Amino acid sequence: VDLQPYNTMTIAARAKYFCAATSLAEVREALRFAQEKGLPILPLGGGSNIVLTADFPGLALHLGMQGLDFEPLDDGVRIRASAGENWHQLVMKSVELGYGGLENLALIPGNIGAAPIQNIGAYGVELKDTFEQLTAMDMRTGELVPFTAEQCQFGYRDSIFKGAAKDQYLICEVVLKLPGDWQRHIAYPALQQYFSEHGYPVDQLTPAQVAAAVIDIRNSKLPNPVEIPNTGSFFKNPVVDERLYSALKTKYPELVAFSTADGWKLAAGWLIDQAGWRGFSRNGVGVHDRQALVLVNPGHRCGSEVIQLAGEIATDVQKKFGVTLEPEPRFYP
Ligand code: EPU
Repeated sequence: VDLQPYNTMTIAARAKYFCAATSLAEVREALRFAQEKGLPILPLGGGSNIVLTADFPGLALHLGMQGLDFEPLDDGVRIRASAGENWHQLVMKSVELGYGGLENLALIPGNIGAAPIQNIGAYGVELKDTFEQLTAMDMRTGELVPFTAEQCQFGYRDSIFKGAAKDQYLICEVVLKLPGDWQRHIAYPALQQYFSEHGYPVDQLTPAQVAAAVIDIRNSKLPNPVEIPNTGSFFKNPVVDERLYSALKTKYPELVAFSTADGWKLAAGWLIDQAGWRGFSRNGVGVHDRQALVLVNPGHRCGSEVIQLAGEIATDVQKKFGVTLEPEPRFYP
């Protein structure tokens, strides 16, 4: 099966086997099939965070389980969402119902099942901030296993599902709890700038208004994957120590950096932009012209060409700034 319709980078790699599962029973059956034949599994959600580097020699398993339930509580709301539900639709539904907590995460592509794997985040909010628990299927046994927030070991674009539990579980359901005493998270510079430019009274903003601002800002910088193939940020923002940070800041006073518990987080988009890559394009693969952190594939080229360009960018940034960039999407196989 050609996986081009199943990845937002529109890479035309093939999977030896393919299954679109819409129930837990179908997922179990697919896992049994793969186990019997000794096949590796490629779990597919929205396909917005994967780069297919070659044909996949195993079973591509699309997780399409549907189900979305809002349970009002005395102090907020509990949301139960099945893996195949679309993330942005969940955000908009919660905002329409008047609940705050997810509005900063509007318009992030992809499905619920993938959200915890890299602890999706934007504009100062991460999934972990409203996460309560998830249910995952053990790929060897087909058993359902609950994970608390603590067990998920969330970090910046990181969780146990990228570390110790990598390739062992399929996330089937996610439970979020949005608080009754909602706090606006509007300190992120791009949001501040947006509200001051539009003359919004920031102490009266509703969740829906914050979501609308986030959507506007994202649309102004980030390519819509339906129109221009991409996987969002192609690199994580690197965290560097005080020494490297001050050396860079002295040399480049405009350097964009945020202080974190682990060190200084640099805006990789700024580094790539400074290195001259923004808007670069070669044979249909390139760097988005309004956000240098996003690689685009309008020519629907193969994964190796995308990775080739990413490698050149990382090498150049390493040479110019002494900073190591790590890819953000997952590469398969
Ligand atoms: N910048 C440039 N030139 C560029 C791109 C960025 O100078 O070409 C500067 C911007 O002006 C800004 C700073 O770099 O001062 C940061 O840019 P931006 O606010 O666009 O955010 P980012 O750090 O590049 C991160 C996330 C995004 C998320 C935004 C907003 C990562 C890897 N990326 O990008 O997440 O939407 O912040 O919170 O953490 C994703 O993960 O796929 C993603 C899109």
